[in-house]
Amino acid sequence: MSELPQDLYGQIDPPQRLLMGPGPVNAHPRVLRAMSADLLGQFDPEMTDYMNQVMALYRPVFGTANHWTMLVDGTARAGIEAALVSLIQSGEMALVVNFGRFGLLLQEILTRIGARYETIDAPWGEVVPMEAIAEAARRLQPRLICTVHGDTSTTMAQPLNGIGAIAREVGALVYVDATATIGGMEIASDRWGVDVVTGGLQKCLGGPSGSSPITLSDAAAALILGRRHVEKGIARDDIEDGHGAMIGSNYFDLAMVMDYWSPKRLNHHTEATTMLYGARECARIALGEGLAARFARHAAAGRAMTAGLRAMGLTVFGDDAHRMTNVTGVWIPQGVDGERIRLMMREAFEIEIGTAFGPLQGRIWRLGAMGYNAMKHKVLITLSALEACLKAEGFRPPLGEAVPAAMAAWEMQA
Ligand SMILES: Cc1ncc(COP(=O)(O)O)c(C=O)c1O
Repeated sequence: MSELPQDLYGQIDPPQRLLMGPGPVNAHPRVLRAMSADLLGQFDPEMTDYMNQVMALYRPVFGTANHWTMLVDGTARAGIEAALVSLIQSGEMALVVNFGRFGLLLQEILTRIGARYETIDAPWGEVVPMEAIAEAARRLQPRLICTVHGDTSTTMAQPLNGIGAIAREVGALVYVDATATIGGMEIASDRWGVDVVTGGLQKCLGGPSGSSPITLSDAAAALILGRRHVEKGIARDDIEDGHGAMIGSNYFDLAMVMDYWSPKRLNHHTEATTMLYGARECARIALGEGLAARFARHAAAGRAMTAGLRAMGLTVFGDDAHRMTNVTGVWIPQGVDGERIRLMMREAFEIEIGTAFGPLQGRIWRLGAMGYNAMKHKVLITLSALEACLKAEGFRPPLGEAVPAAMAAWEMQA
C-alpha cells in the first residue's frame, strides 16, 4: 500500500479559475455561504419548512403552479432518470425529440427501462420543427414525448411552445430536460403544457452540481402515484399502494420521493441538506434578480460572446435562430490545435472553455456565460484571452476587434 504524504495532501485549495465552458460554472458566493450552514435532522420542523420553501421558490423558476415541485438528490442526470423511470415502463412507447448528446442520453435511459421508442431527429446544430413532432406523435401514439430544452452538446434550444397541445391530442405526457437552460432562459412549463421538467444547479442557476429540481403536473403525479409501492420497512396503514407497475428503481421512485416531500414525510432517502440549502439560495438569487432581468442578462452575454467571436474572424456553430443564450459553439479554425488553446487559456489566464462531444469533438469549442458568470467583464476577459492565445498559436485574428464588438452587442436590445 502506498504511503500517504505527511500533510495528507493538504487542505482543498483550488485555483481561482473562471469557468466559461458549458457548465459547471463558478457558484454564486451566496450559494456557497448558504451551503456552509449547520445541518438539521431530516424531520426537524425547520428542515421540513425549508423543504416547503424550496417547493414554493422553484414554482416560478419552472413557470408553473404545479404542487409537485421539489428536488431529486443527485446531479441533473438523477432528475432525468427519476422522471423517465417513474413515467414509463417496459414495453410502452416513447417519442424522443433528438438533436444532440442529451437526446441520445434519453434514448439510453429508455433502453435500460425496456421502453420502446422512436426518435425524431435534427442534425447537430439544428432543432426539430414542431410539425415534425406533431406528425411523429400522431403516427406513433406514444405514452411519453421526451425532449431536451437546451442541448449543451450542440448549443441549440428546442422551441417547446405547442408541444403540450400535441401531447394532449394523442394522450401522451411530455418530459423536458431543462438542465442547461433553467434560470437562464424562460422555462414555461404551464404555458408549454409539459408534464415533467427537470433541471440542475450548475449552469444558469449558478450553484454546484448535485441537486436536480423537478416539477410534475397533476397528470404526471397521478400516473406516478398510481405506481406507488411503499418500501416494506416503512409501510403505513394510511398509505395505499397503487395498481400500476412498480417503478424499477428505489432511489429514483418519484412516488416515494413525493411521499417524503408531502406532509406524510414518509422516509425515503436522507435529504441532502447542504444541497437543499444551495438549491434554495440559487432560486432566491434568481427570483431576487427577477427572472425577466436574468434572462435578459444571459441573452446579452450570449450576444456579446457571439459578436466578439465573429469579430475575431471565427465562425459560430449552428443555427442562429435557435441558439441557446448561455453557451456558444465556435468552430476551431483550420490549423489550430483546439486542445493547445484550451491548455493555454487555463495555464496563462486561469480560464476554462469547453471542448465538445461526438461528431463535434475536436471541431468546436463551447464558451458559456451562465449564472454568476453571465457578466460583461467575464465575457470580455474571456474574449481577450482567447484572442491572445489564438495569436500565440499563429492564427491571425483581427486584433482589438472582439472586445468593442462584444461591448456594443451587450448593450443592444434583443
Ligand atoms: C442538457 C443537459 N442534460 C443533462 C446533463 C447532465 O447533467 P449532470 O452532469 O449534472 O448529471 C447536462 C450536463 O451537462 C446537460 O447539459
